[in-house]
Formats: sequence, structure tokens, C-alpha cells
Amino acid sequence: MIRVAVLGSTGSIGRSALEVIGRHLDRFEVVALVANRSSEDLAVQVRSFKPAKAVLCDDTADSPGGTAGTVWGSGWQALLDVVADPEVDVVVNALVGAAGLEPTLCALEAGHRLALANKESLVAGGQLVVEAAREGGGEIVPIDSEHSAILQCCEGHSSAEVHRVVLTASGGPFRGRTLDDLWHVGPEEALRHPTWDMGAKITIDSATLANKALEVIEAHHLYGLGYDAIDAVIHPQSVIHSFVEFVDGSVLAQLGFPNMELPILYALSYPDRINDAALRTYDPVAASPLTFEEIDHGAFPLFGLGVEAGRRGGCAPAAYNAGNEIAVQAFLEGRVRFPEMADVVNKSLEEVGSDVVRDVKDVFAADHAARDVALEVVRRLSEARAGATS
Ligand SMILES: NC(=O)c1ccc[n+]([C@@H]2O[C@H](COP(=O)([O-])OP(=O)(O)OC[C@H]3O[C@@H](n4cnc5c(N)ncnc54)[C@H](OP(=O)(O)O)[C@@H]3O)[C@@H](O)[C@H]2O)c1
Repeated sequence: MIRVAVLGSTGSIGRSALEVIGRHLDRFEVVALVANRSSEDLAVQVRSFKPAKAVLCDDTADSPGGTAGTVWGSGWQALLDVVADPEVDVVVNALVGAAGLEPTLCALEAGHRLALANKESLVAGGQLVVEAAREGGGEIVPIDSEHSAILQCCEGHSSAEVHRVVLTASGGPFRGRTLDDLWHVGPEEALRHPTWDMGAKITIDSATLANKALEVIEAHHLYGLGYDAIDAVIHPQSVIHSFVEFVDGSVLAQLGFPNMELPILYALSYPDRINDAALRTYDPVAASPLTFEEIDHGAFPLFGLGVEAGRRGGCAPAAYNAGNEIAVQAFLEGRVRFPEMADVVNKSLEEVGSDVVRDVKDVFAADHAARDVALEVVRRLSEARAGATS
């Protein structure tokens, strides 16, 4: 039995992971579940999977009753204790944001397999995460569908045989809109993703294409590819998840209808494949036509800004990510408009992005400083907006 801890079990990826595990209880055992403060949802999962441990990170959240046999913990240290537990084989990190960095490092230092959905931790921590895996003996297996596709296409090939990867992006709900149009879109419209059903933060990141920039940086660290060897293309159907072009010119792609359960299952079973009738749905006729477009950099500047942050390295990706987290929250709260998210992130990068990374404290310092800069830009923009409407 493979013993699995799911961090962020009440979220979109966490719930999908439990769906997958629930169909394969002959192979996987849920030993720990972690959420932030959704205590009732977590209690329902605990009754169903009966893990040894359950944790609510927010220590002000109420602990539910009626879950005999499970030890409840609360607070951040309780989460880290679950991650470091030698009784765990695989940690699914489905937390959202750079808050996932410490658990990512901890899981890898403990020598576990890290089934990684929380791309922000790899973006912010970059080389430190890769080193933690090397030194601790842990292994990162991506859950992001694009990176899972690359892993699947590269099976049996050395990195020297890979010439280039091309990540696909759906283009989000605003594909085809101009920058001018985007001044008039609100959170409700931005949250209506055309092909994927996901948590709020990644859905907004998909609408701005910041998500694709985070994924370019993620691919750089996961596969050791230079930025010139990582491209992205709009593919509205979200059926092809990535292309891998090999040095002989041959191109492999991995296909499947948009459903995160497939890459989650692969991250748990890798390098094996497990029979799962619930996921065998591919129909080439229903999937057609498959189309591709260039990214519109004018309308979606957060893509280029993010890739540039990746190229700069050091603290720049952490600053980009932190500024973006603040910008997304501010947009969801109606405090900034859609195109202004790029201004918030740009300022964070300008002020914080040149710092060097010696250890994880530098990353946390850059993350905090970038959040402060971003919050100040948000405050100024929302005050200017309030002044203009009064
Ligand atoms: N959704 C997708 O299809 C998808 C696809 C690819 C990659 N990803 C990546 O997967 C990650 C999770 O995305 P999601 O869409 O599943 O997010 P989500 O639906 O918002 O769920 C986030 C989960 O993390 C918990 N959480 C949030 N902040 C936390 C904190 N500070 N401490 C402890 N727990 C915290 C939440 O607990 P509460 O419920 O208690 O708040 C919830 O269980 C993100 O990094 C995203 O980019 C998602």
C-alpha cells in the first residue's frame, strides 16, 4: 500500500485526488488530510477515508466531532509534522500559493515522493526545491497536466535528446479580447473558465496567462531546460497538454480530455500505469478540431513579465509570484481592474526582483517585500478609482 498525505484536500485538486484514490483503495491509503479552515468539508473526508491524522492549518478554525480514530492537529507546525512523517510515502501538495513552499521543501528533505500541484512553490523556491530533492532523496512528480504530459512523452529518453517543449494554454475566458476590452471585465466573467473547473486563484491566472508563465518557470526547474527551449501556444480545446520536440525533429504530444484526475493518477502511480475505466474517455472525433494560436502579448502582458522574471532568476520569480498573488486577490475583491494586475506585478518585480537567493530566508524576504510593494500599488489604484467615481 502506498501511504498518501493530501495537503489542500478540500480544494479542487485535493478533492480530485481523493476521487482517484477512492477508486484505487487496493493500492493507496490516505494517512493524512490537511485543509486550511474548511472544517466541515474536512470532517466529511475524514469520515470517508479514516486517515490517522487530520490538520486544520488555521488554528482559529473549529475542530469538528464525530471522527473517532483520527488524531486532529491544528496550526502550521501540525502540517509540517504530517509532511515529515516517515509513515508517509507520497505527499500531494495541492495548497495554493507560495504558502506551499515550506511543505514542498519539507517533503523532499524527508525523502518522500512529492506529487506537486502547487506550482507556486517551485516558482518561488526554484533551485532550492531542486536541491532539497537531491539532498533529501525526495522526488518531484508534477500534477500540472502540461508537465505530466512532458514527463510522459520523455519516458525512456535522456534530457540530451530533448530539443524543446511547447506548453499549451487554453487562452482562458478572454481569448481574442483586446487590452481595451479587458478594462471592462469583472471577476465573475474571469472565473468562468471555458475548459477547466479549478480553484479561484488558478482560474484568474489562466485568464491573465500568468499561469502559463508560472508553468514555463516550473518546466525550467523540473526538466533542466533553458528558457529558449520552452515555448507556449494557445490551444483552446485543452486536449493536447504539451508537445516535446526531440533533437531528430520528431514531436511527441500527450492527449486527453481536460480532467485533472488523469495527471493526478499518473503522479501517484508513476512510472506505472493503473487501469482506470473512469478515465478512458478519449474520442478523436469528439475532440476535433484541434487548433493553435500565438499568445497575444499586448492583451496578456503577465505572460511575458513572468517569463522575463524566470530568465532573471534570483528572487525575481518569487517577487513575480507574490505580486501576482496580491494582484489576483485584489482583482477578486474588486479593488483593481483586470489590466491593472500587470501594473501591480511589474512594480513588485522592479522593486524586489534583483535580490539574490542564498537560502530560503531570502525567498521568504523577497516574497514578503513584494507583497508589501504590491499592496501599496493596490491601495493607490483603488483610492484613485474611488476618487474618480466620487
Ligand atoms: N485546480 C486545478 O485544476 C489545478 C490544475 C493545475 C494546477 N493547480 C495548482 O494546484 C494548487 C491548488 O489549486 P486548487 O485549484 O485546488 O486550489 P483551491 O481549490 O483554492 O484549494 C486550495 C486548498 O488549499 C487549502 N489552503 C489554501 N491556503 C492554505 C494555507 N495557507 N494553508 C493551508 N491550507 C491552505 C485550502 O483549504 P480550505 O478549503 O480550508 O481553504 C484548500 O484545501 C494551486 O497551486 C494551483 O495552481 C490546480
